[in-house]
Amino acid sequence: MIDISANLSGFNFESCIMNASGPLDTTLEELTDIATSGAGGIVMKSCTLDVREGNPEPRYVDIEWGSINSMGLPNLGYKFYKEISPKLKSYGKPLIASIAGANCQEYAEIIEAFNDSDVDILEVNLSCPNVIGRPQIGYDFEMSQDILNTIGDISNKPWGAKLPPYFDFVHFEEMASILNSSKISFIVSINSIGNALFIDWKKEQVLIKPKGGFGGLGGRYIKPTALANVKKFSELLDKRIKIVGVGGIYNGIDAFEFILSGATLLQLGTSFSQEGPLIFNRVSKELCDIMKGKGYRSLDDFRGKLKVID
Ligand code: DHB
Repeated sequence: MIDISANLSGFNFESCIMNASGPLDTTLEELTDIATSGAGGIVMKSCTLDVREGNPEPRYVDIEWGSINSMGLPNLGYKFYKEISPKLKSYGKPLIASIAGANCQEYAEIIEAFNDSDVDILEVNLSCPNVIGRPQIGYDFEMSQDILNTIGDISNKPWGAKLPPYFDFVHFEEMASILNSSKISFIVSINSIGNALFIDWKKEQVLIKPKGGFGGLGGRYIKPTALANVKKFSELLDKRIKIVGVGGIYNGIDAFEFILSGATLLQLGTSFSQEGPLIFNRVSKELCDIMKGKGYRSLDDFRGKLKVID
């Protein structure tokens, strides 16, 4: 029997594969579809203090190798996600709330509210690239540190941070040192690569309306960057801090590569949006088949064991 279960912050995920915050996880109906699928856990859309309509459409476009989006955090407000937490918990899977604030105070207010909820784990989003006029927090190390300290003081739930991709070893080291000195128990790496641009050359026009066409890049385009982030953080972070890998996972081979690079759990964003809830069982089965072929029985047998060339 092949075991692809994983543990995060004391919660058991029967499959290490679940949805990424973002696509198809805003309404109770969508979240129920995830709860009743093969996903190992349920991640909710990043929520804000107030209900948000998000940016004008078109704001999400599928492309052959991935997607571009500038949704602008459309969500039903944190109170809604707190309210539906008992219903979602009744499906027996770990439930993760994703939190997006504009500043330290907003994060604090939302996190305090979730202290008294059926949510199991908090994913603190430091990397939304699509709110007009607001930079990605994860690129501001001082502000990131302030927010992590505040959350450490307030949260009575296990929590982690969703990070933007980094591209320079100095930045990885700086962020890792901030994370190592916080009370964080995991990171989610990576969010979409911010502010990409796609062009419809026939129309001589951008593909999405917000921000002059600039938006977050997801899907196959970003897998090498995501793997690099998972691998580099697995080298730099204290072993108590787990890594949730996300970025361009479409199949069992992708999933295998992320675990090999050091990930404990995996999330599917663009691929889930394109294929729907059946993707969780498909990728789980493909991962099992690869492990069987290699004689591995659990993820511990190969997690983080990526070889380098001497
Ligand atoms: C949105 C996009 C993100 O990448 C994210 O982390 C949160 C929100 C959005 O545009 O809705």
